[in-house]
Amino acid sequence: MSNKLTLYTIIAAFWCAFLVVLGVNLAGNFVMPSEEHLTKFGYPIEAVEEESGPAEATAGGPRPDIKPMIVAAKAEDGVAVFRKCASCHTAEAGGKNLTGPNLHNIVGDAIGDRNGFKTSDSLKAIPGGKWTYEVLDDYIENPKHLAPKGTMSFAGIKKPVERAAVIKFLMSNTENPPAIDVAAPAAAAPAAEAPAAAPAAPEKK
Ligand code: HEC
Repeated sequence: MSNKLTLYTIIAAFWCAFLVVLGVNLAGNFVMPSEEHLTKFGYPIEAVEEESGPAEATAGGPRPDIKPMIVAAKAEDGVAVFRKCASCHTAEAGGKNLTGPNLHNIVGDAIGDRNGFKTSDSLKAIPGGKWTYEVLDDYIENPKHLAPKGTMSFAGIKKPVERAAVIKFLMSNTENPPAIDVAAPAAAAPAAEAPAAAPAAPEKK
């Protein structure tokens, strides 16, 4: 077979594949149930398409009450989530500032001016001036929501359970985190009062 013929064969094969894909897509439009249909049967279309599902609020949307979730969360689970932060933050006592400030003792603390880090005016302007659990949750979900001109270039963590875990991790790196005033289930309460010893921060690169 000549090289030219082989080339034509390959091109023809690609065209066939393309047409098949096109055909399947078109057919799909006819057989796909409508959004209304899906919703009626209790499967909102977002649940099918979005990895996080409908309960996970998007930026600006309603956020679930994070406190009971923090009580239930494990600091150990937060270690894995904190890997997303660790390129810019340390959390242990005496840790260095990286692109962002060291986050030791952050929970309940005043916003900004940490460890000599130059805080943006936008972050300093957050109402209340304190890292309460709600403010932390809001900021970690979408840093631009509370500090539109803040300098933390991070998309945010959309899953409440991951935010709860990373906040629990930050609590375990905070000497006196504020008490969480939720009617916690009896089993979870002791964990809230005495956070476990700080698990090791993820490896730095
Ligand atoms: C790309 C780098 C980067 C990543 C990733 C990042 N941050 Fe930040 N973070 C920053 C910078 C820069 C600031 C300073 C923001 C400002 O001053 O506006 C900051 C500030 C903060 C503050 C406020 C500290 C203060 O000064 O009071 C908190 C809390 C925080 N980050 C938590 C996190 C958490 C939790 C994660 C991971 C889920 C994370 N950050 C991921 C860069 C980052």
